[in-house]
Order: sequence, then C-alpha cells, then structure tokens
Amino acid sequence: MSELRASVGAALPELSVVLPTRNEADNIEPLLAGLRDALNAVDFELVFVDDSDDQTAQILAREAILDPRVRVVHRAPELREGGLSTAVVLGLHEARGRLVGVMDADLQHPPETILAMLAAEREGADLVVASRYLPGGSRAGLAGGFRQFVSRAASLLVRAVFIEARASSDPLAGFFLCRSSLLRGVEFRPVGFKILLELLVCSPHLKVADVPLQFQSRTAGESKASTTQGLLFLRHIWSLIYDVPGSARIWKFSAVGISGLALLLAILELGGTVLGWPALAAWAVAFVLSVLWNFSWNLRLTFADLRRERYPLMRRYVSSTLTAGGAQLIVFLGLVGTPLPLVLDGLLAAVLGMGVNGALNWQLARRHRRPSQLAIGIDHFLAHLGKVSGAQLTALLDQNGREVAFWGRPSAEATELLRSLAERASYGGLPVLWTEPPSRRPQARTNVELASIMVLPLELPGFERFTVALQRRTRSAFSSDDLEATMRQLERLRPRLGLGSDGAAADQPAAPGRPAQPAAELSGNRGQRGPGTTSRLG
Ligand code: GDD
Ligand code: MN
Repeated sequence: MSELRASVGAALPELSVVLPTRNEADNIEPLLAGLRDALNAVDFELVFVDDSDDQTAQILAREAILDPRVRVVHRAPELREGGLSTAVVLGLHEARGRLVGVMDADLQHPPETILAMLAAEREGADLVVASRYLPGGSRAGLAGGFRQFVSRAASLLVRAVFIEARASSDPLAGFFLCRSSLLRGVEFRPVGFKILLELLVCSPHLKVADVPLQFQSRTAGESKASTTQGLLFLRHIWSLIYDVPGSARIWKFSAVGISGLALLLAILELGGTVLGWPALAAWAVAFVLSVLWNFSWNLRLTFADLRRERYPLMRRYVSSTLTAGGAQLIVFLGLVGTPLPLVLDGLLAAVLGMGVNGALNWQLARRHRRPSQLAIGIDHFLAHLGKVSGAQLTALLDQNGREVAFWGRPSAEATELLRSLAERASYGGLPVLWTEPPSRRPQARTNVELASIMVLPLELPGFERFTVALQRRTRSAFSSDDLEATMRQLERLRPRLGLGSDGAAADQPAAPGRPAQPAAELSGNRGQRGPGTTSRLG
C-alpha cells in the first residue's frame, strides 16, 4: 500500500503547513530559514495564504520560484472577506499533505515545535495543539498584561461554554496540526481568529493532544488583533452555540430547564391562586405542561444531534422525569398545608425535582456531540451527480476500483481502464478526466460518439480511497468545465452523504477510524443491471 502510494502519489508531501500572512514582509525570510532548518528531515510543503499590501507577496513569489515546496495563494483585496479565518480555511483546502498544520507567519510560533507535534501525531493523536498553557509552554510573548488577561479570560470562557473545547488546554491557539482526512467533508465557518475552536466544536470526536508552546514576542510587523476581533470572537461563539446542533449542551439543557420552571410557576399561580383551582389540580396541570414544554425544547435544542437515538433517549428522559416528578409531588403535598404561598410551595418542590432530574440526566447532558446527521442516501447522491454532469452512469468504486453502487444505464463490468483511472484518483487524491480520442487518424466526421470518464476522489472518513466514476458515450466528451462543476456538486453533497439507502441515513455514520463495511452498508442500489444492454467504453 505504502509503496503504491509512493509510486503513484510521489508528489504528495507528508506534511502541509498553512501559513496565513498579512503584511509580514520582514518575517518571511527568517521564518523560511527556520522552517527549512527544523523540518530538514520531513517531506513538507508550505501553503502561504497571503492578504498583504506590503512586499510580502513579492518575497513569497520569489521564494516559490526558488523552492517548489513553497506554494502561495495571494488574495486580491476584494477576495479577503473574512480575513484570517477564510485564509486558513482556504489553506486547509489547498493543502495536499497527509498531515496539515496551521501556524502564524510572524515568528511567534517557533518552527521546531512542529517536530514535537509530529511526534504526538505518531503516538496516535488526531489533532495536536501547541499550547501556551502547558507546563513547559509560555505566553510571555503575548504583548502586554491586558492582552494576556483577555486571552486567558477568553480561553476560560470557551472552556466553560463548550465541553468540546476542554479537549485542549489552549482551545484558542493559532498553532495546531491534524490528519487532513479528518477535516475533509466538514464545513468550517470560523469567524475571526479562532479557527482551532471551530475545529474542536465541529469535530468533537477527534483525539486531541497538547504539546508545550513557547509563544515568542513579535520582532517585526504588528499584530492584527483588535477590538473588532474581540467582537468577532463573541459572534463566533454565538454561531457555534446556535448553528451547531447539540453544542454547549449543558447550557441549552439549563436554559430549557429554567424556562420550564418559569412556566410551571406561572401556571400554578394562575390556576391555584387567580382561578382558585384546588392546589393539587393546579400543580398537576402546571407539571404536565412544563414537562411537555421542556421535552419538546430539549429534543429540538439540547439533543438536536441525537435524533437518531430518540427512543432510548425518550425512555431515559421519561423515566427520570417521572422519578423527579414523584419526588416533586411528595414535597409539594408536604408544603401545601403550610402557610407559605402556593407559588413558593411549587418553587421549592420544583427546585428539588430539578435537582433530582439534573442528577439523573447529567451524564446525558455531558455527552459529546455526534457528527452532524447524514441526510442523503447513496442512490440520491449518485443520481444527482449523474444528472448535473450529464453522465449516463455514475458509480461508487471501492479502494480496489470495484463498483459497489451505481446509477443510470448499466455499464460493462469495471474495465481495466476504469480501474486504473480510479487508482490514480484515489491514490493521487486528485480527480481524473479521460476521453476517448475520435480515431487514430484525424477525424473527418463530427457525429461520432466518444466515451469519456471522470473519476473523483470521494474522501469520506471511514471510506478512504473510495471514488465516484462518471461515464458517458456521447458526441461531446466531458470537458474540464464539466469536471469542475461536478466536483463542486460533490463537495456540496458529500457532507450530507450517508452510505445507507435513500431516505434513511446509515445507522452508524462513517466515523474516523472505524473500519469501513461498505458491502453491508451499501444496500440501497436501485439501478437495474441487464445483460446485453451494457455500453462499451474505450
Ligand atoms: N491571510 C491573512 N489575512 N493572514 C492574516 C490576517 C488576514 O487578514 N490577519 C492576520 N494574519 C496572519 C498574520 O500575518 C500572522 O501570520 C497570523 O495571521 C497571526 O496574526 P497576528 O496578528 O500576529 O495575531 P496575534 O499574534 O495577535 O494572535 C495569535 O495568537 C492568538 C492567541 O492569542 C494568533 O495565533 C491567533 O490565531 C491566536 O488566537
Ligand atoms: Mn502574532
């Protein structure tokens, strides 16, 4: 396997380092010297994503000519929206290495630290963070006591809000490294400077390790951190709470609980005091309504990512609610005879009930999030790609180039040609476009049909090296425009792809590290394969 990779994908580096730059002209040369020195035993590439208005772009362009390991994407001013965060996401997309790292280009992140990070990855970490808050690390380089205070406070805040952020001692670091396959297919929408936080919250199942970072002080250029960045940070936190189902679960659970309590007391007061119902009746109505209220909000908000586990969840929820409700009722009955106002009886009882309920559900509320629900089946996926690209046949191929699901007009068994194209696409990680030449001689007629094939790497965790092949035999072969459009569609759909049958997503979404079981899971194939109707390719 590794030999094959070495021969087919010889151009692919082991490590890509993404370096966002904005006006770092005086830092580039010393940075490159430091990186070449530190990484002399590593097969690496550097991906600069540059938004500079000074000489940085020219310096980088010159370096890229001299050293093919240096790649530069320079963004024109109108393409810089989002600043640092979009620059890093772009760099992650551009990176071709098996591993991808992100670091600052202002020498505040020492290049040697990468070696320690690589070692931590070899020991089994999915994501390695260079942390300022680990023994042996330091943040002395962070300019000024105020900046240090803000940084520490922000770090504590996100660790309080997101259980996922507790995986690292420095969730706001700008220096980290991970296996690139773990990032593919996840949509990142960071705002501002905190890209690592986005990764931690959106990919909560990664195994995270920290290595100590000695954060250096800046010697040239200036920091782009500002009050605006601070506000963007708060917006980012809000988006991670609001737009990521099941994140910050404890807080969502608590918020729902408090709103339910308010509802309970309001109904108790209205029924028992204003309308004069018997105390027990008012309590019962208030209790049932608030339970329903809590339940529906918890399903929609707190456990939005656990919808697949609805039934076990519901059983557990109902049983703990009934236990807590029983305790609540006993306390309420004990208090009703006392001179305390009815609402206070209800409140005391409910506080006790919430305590019991909270204790029973605490573990559940602390549960890490599931990866986002996979919403479309393989049939739908293949059909959609086929239709948008004008293919006659779309097939999903496994690591060995074997067809495991298909859509459209049945084809010949996977041909040698298809297999070798698939091999290129899967080991090279890049799409392949092949078209049949019209003839060995210059062709006079234009109404001949040409076979053409596109093979795109699928890059879905758990289904490494799977590809999607699209074929047709028409007067006009696939063009590079077709290829690009199809790739875009694939990128768009892939995050939602569940490798089960249409409608229902696979029970166990393919997770990193879990061995793929394609044969068992790829069941929803509705194409028909009839002998004699196969189209011949090539
Ligand atoms: N492409 C691009 N576009 N790069 C940018 C931009 C931008 O708009 N803004 C900043 N950068 C680059 C800088 O050139 C530098 O290489 C890196 O991003 C970090 O920017 P600094 O301005 O030096 O940030 P900092 O030192 O204040 O903040 C660092 O520490 C924080 C933790 O306190 C960064 O590592 C942050 O990511 C980190 O959160
Ligand atoms: Mn900096």
